[in-house]
Amino acid sequence: MKIGTPLSPTATRVMLLGSGELGKEVIIALQRLGVEVIAVDRYPDAPGHQVAHRAYVIDMTDADALRALVDQERPQLIVPEIEAIATDELARIEADGLARVVPTARATQLTMNREGIRRLAAEELGLPTSRYAFAESFRELEQAIEGGIGYPCIIKPVMSSSGKGQSTVNSPEELEAAWQYAKEGGRVDRGRVIVEEMILFDYEITLLTVRAMDAQGQIGTQFCAPIGHRQEQGDYVESWQPQRMSDKAMQRAQSVAETITSKLGGCGLFGVELFVRGNEVWFSEVSPRPHDTGMVTMVTQWQNEFELHARAILGLPVDTMLRNAGASAVIYGGMEQGGIVFDQVEQALSIPRSELRLFGKPESFTRRRMGVALAYGEQTDECRLRAAEVAGRVKPQAE
Ligand SMILES: Nc1ncnc2c1ncn2[C@@H]1O[C@H](COP(=O)(O)OP(=O)(O)O)[C@@H](O)[C@H]1O
Ligand SMILES: [Mg+2]
Repeated sequence: MKIGTPLSPTATRVMLLGSGELGKEVIIALQRLGVEVIAVDRYPDAPGHQVAHRAYVIDMTDADALRALVDQERPQLIVPEIEAIATDELARIEADGLARVVPTARATQLTMNREGIRRLAAEELGLPTSRYAFAESFRELEQAIEGGIGYPCIIKPVMSSSGKGQSTVNSPEELEAAWQYAKEGGRVDRGRVIVEEMILFDYEITLLTVRAMDAQGQIGTQFCAPIGHRQEQGDYVESWQPQRMSDKAMQRAQSVAETITSKLGGCGLFGVELFVRGNEVWFSEVSPRPHDTGMVTMVTQWQNEFELHARAILGLPVDTMLRNAGASAVIYGGMEQGGIVFDQVEQALSIPRSELRLFGKPESFTRRRMGVALAYGEQTDECRLRAAEVAGRVKPQAE
């Protein structure tokens, strides 16, 4: 594996499609390896734009705009950070030999729609999942629930992320509102939803799984220690590592993760989301890229999830070893305002063995993730308390 000199004809060029807080950290990891990075997002001054060699604002769902930028920049690697991309165009770019898409164009196509990945996991690979059905009308939705999924259930647009358009339905009276909410919350208004049986899990995890090349050029699968997390309204608010698990559940989780990631193929880090009850494990979904709950690895692993991704996509070996326990807690904007200020940062960071990431997003929304508090130590539970305390002390203000 050779890496060139940035901004010279020998440069190893990587284009990030999506440059939020996760993309920003991937870019920093790539920059440290001397890679030339081009950051793309749909709005100016996105977090990743601020640390890349060049920054562009385009509509990444516009196939022509995407192709034109790739033709202009000629990256060797394209790294999608979000799902809302013209993935069919990525497939053509890959087929034309223009650039390699990470981990593969097909993986980005399958995971951008809940239907693609769910059918692959449950119907083709036979992995355990919640019971589910797809519906395109209120009538179809009702029939699916009455036909076996039952209450409580969860309804989500097939194309959405971070809990957008998602709701839990406990009884038939709540169904109409959930249907309307899902139709409005989808990324593309196709009016198609997935309805899932509610799994009453003991805990849920993200199993970061890396497909990387060893020194002999063979692709192998490696796992990070499981990350536990807590979601509110479908959005992650807190995560910790390691999550304690039984040996049996751990084996099953790793086996599910290996099956789904080898089917998606390519090299890179994946976030495999699983539900666990006792020794039972259900596959929920997978991101073919670093995962928001994995931000905790910035203080727990020798190589964090962003460094692992950077190394794996470049064809370099990785080390997924845990260094110590830790936790992360999300900091929301809490207001609708541009150019906000974070006050009391010194009080927050006076908590020992803590760190802070402020993403530098130009605009705050009430439920927009603006930063994350991190804490590390010996005991996961104790780290959780400290991370929450750090996050709570940071005060977003209008100015
Ligand atoms: N079938 C289910 N049973 C129980 N909880 C679920 C189920 N589906 C989703 N959830 C909860 O909602 C969260 C977000 O759902 P997910 O499918 O991961 O959506 P997103 O793509 O927006 O992350 C999950 O992490 C979990 O806490
Ligand atoms: Mg999820």
